[in-house]
Amino acid sequence: MRMVDLITKKQAGNALTEQEIYFIINGFTDGSIPDYQMSAFAMAVYFVGMTEEEAGFLTMAMAESGDQIDLSAIEGIKVDKHSTGGVGDTTTLVLAPLVASCDVPVAKMSGRGLGHTGGTVDKFEAIKGFKYELSTEDFIDTVNKHKVAVVGQSGNLTPADKKLYALRDVTGTVQSIPLIASSIMSKKIAAGADAIVLDVKVGDGAFMKTVEEAEELARTMVRIGNHVNRKTLAVISNMNQPLGWAVGNALEVQEAVETLRGEGPEDLTQLCYELGARMLVAAEKVTSIEEGKELLSAKIASGEALEKFREFVVSQGGDASFVDDTSLLPQAQYQIPVPALTNGFISDWVANEVGEAAMWLGAGRATKEDEIDPAVGLMIHAKVGDAVKQGDNIVTIYSNRENVDDVIAKLQAAVTISDSAEAAPLIYETIDQA
Ligand code: URA
Ligand code: CA
Repeated sequence: MRMVDLITKKQAGNALTEQEIYFIINGFTDGSIPDYQMSAFAMAVYFVGMTEEEAGFLTMAMAESGDQIDLSAIEGIKVDKHSTGGVGDTTTLVLAPLVASCDVPVAKMSGRGLGHTGGTVDKFEAIKGFKYELSTEDFIDTVNKHKVAVVGQSGNLTPADKKLYALRDVTGTVQSIPLIASSIMSKKIAAGADAIVLDVKVGDGAFMKTVEEAEELARTMVRIGNHVNRKTLAVISNMNQPLGWAVGNALEVQEAVETLRGEGPEDLTQLCYELGARMLVAAEKVTSIEEGKELLSAKIASGEALEKFREFVVSQGGDASFVDDTSLLPQAQYQIPVPALTNGFISDWVANEVGEAAMWLGAGRATKEDEIDPAVGLMIHAKVGDAVKQGDNIVTIYSNRENVDDVIAKLQAAVTISDSAEAAPLIYETIDQA
């Protein structure tokens, strides 16, 4: 087999076989296929696309390109949740204990974040003593004992994806739906998922800017999941404004506690029900999404979900006293209000800009080397559709520097206040069948 023939085969619009796709991915991983040929191939895929079957082969070839986590020692169906990323997304912090409280195993590998706020691992680092570096053995034991564990990514997972993503980044081939879909799915499968629930975000704070694009990506991933025998369900949700109230690490931990008490923001709570119910369906705990939502809401009402959060934090070495007293979480030195500049209704937040404002305070990383300050961030008090008066505090800034004029100006520029506005929909669509 010669790489150049496979490039021209793809370029001419033909589908590649399983053997051909493995040849490409294995060769690229071991270095026998050079970057320039792989770039040409990625560009051919960018223009020609891939069949679902090809995308399935690509997913598995990348999943198998490095270490794979074997979770078979954990009883039950292991469901993973993946979000395509957004601003102030606290869902994993809520869902891990919530779904575990329904007796469904949650074995989650999470990454650190680059950008706006931290990744899930960074958020857990706001909890004193929380240890996310577990050996695979301890990871499995913890899930068997407590039904939940969240660990940082370790080992050499999907090196083919890592290399290809970096190449796509500099060759204008990131925005290809089969390449994005197989990139995401390969990582979930290598991390041991039997079933996958996807939260595909759409809006200015997300990768996909339109509902149509998001839907195509979601459908592609659901079909890939089917091809590779991983039940996959998807929700398309709004990232035109930050999710929930909190943007920042300790603030989001606090928000997760409130949500598990049943006192969290409506949008975050609703999204957790939509995603959590699908996790329960995928794990075959319930037979319908409605039944799943009822079970989740019962676990919150009874306090079992919050109790599970406490158990989970303690089992990973964390000090769980913040669950009863959130003032024990890292606290910022200054709280500074951001006043609305006019009367009216909030008609838009540019979610990206809000995320960047939080990053300026130290809640996220601009480069890999940056240190995150767990205490800092934003609490948003006015969301799309809400009425405000000039001078109202629409956001509280939690900062460890006294002068935040730059952040205030950025937030005032990120919000649009109009004569009228409707509340934005949270869920655009759900895809529960391939
Ligand atoms: N996220 C990924 O993991 N991969 C992509 O290709 C795009 C977004
Ligand atoms: Ca917006």
